[in-house]
Amino acid sequence: MESMIRSWRIEDAEALALAINNKKIMENLRDGIPYPYTVDDAKDYIRDMLDGEKKNRQYAFAITLDGKAIGSIGIFRKDNIHRYTAELGYYVAEPYWGKGIVTQAVTEICDYVFANTDIMRIFAEPFARNIASCRVLEKAGFILEGTLRKNAVKNGEALDMRLYALVK
Ligand SMILES: CC(C)(COP(=O)(O)OP(=O)(O)OC[C@H]1O[C@@H](n2cnc3c(N)ncnc32)[C@H](O)[C@@H]1OP(=O)(O)O)[C@@H](O)C(=O)NCCC(=O)NCCS
Repeated sequence: MESMIRSWRIEDAEALALAINNKKIMENLRDGIPYPYTVDDAKDYIRDMLDGEKKNRQYAFAITLDGKAIGSIGIFRKDNIHRYTAELGYYVAEPYWGKGIVTQAVTEICDYVFANTDIMRIFAEPFARNIASCRVLEKAGFILEGTLRKNAVKNGEALDMRLYALVK
């Protein structure tokens, strides 16, 4: 099967901005992402990701279909005693939901990181109500380690999160 992820290119900025400019995506992510999200915001993000990779801090890829960026996925290293642990995050543009795309992208990025870096634990913390994201992680082989009760406040609401992890 065709690979669903590839390195970012600065020319992906327009497609990235188009994908993320959606409240239904933003409401499932952390705060602090600009909305509306401009092409310049996307360029800054892409530059940042390419730079971080050089320092072995993060491994970020475009999710692609026929070469076109339709989403974003990344694994971000923690520090101190958690320096071999990293957090996974992702999203794909709404027209592409429900086609198995992110499940494949998660499998590919985890295989890449376990094969090419010293990271030994990859975790994700979706909101408990984000059934699609929990399902993606389960399909990709992550184990549910617990529920983090009232672990976040998003749009004024206290939310439970789920802790999923995959270990090498
Ligand atoms: C969550 C998200 C990444 C899923 O990507 P995707 O490519 O649509 O995921 P997949 O198609 O690989 O798998 C989705 C699974 O969830 C299931 N699903 C989706 N919505 C569901 C719902 N409301 N109830 C039950 N199952 C649901 C799908 O049926 C599918 O499972 P299946 O293959 O067993 O049928 C995508 O919807 C997205 O970008 N959402 C907004 C951003 C986000 O939530 N990011 C993650 C933050 S932790």
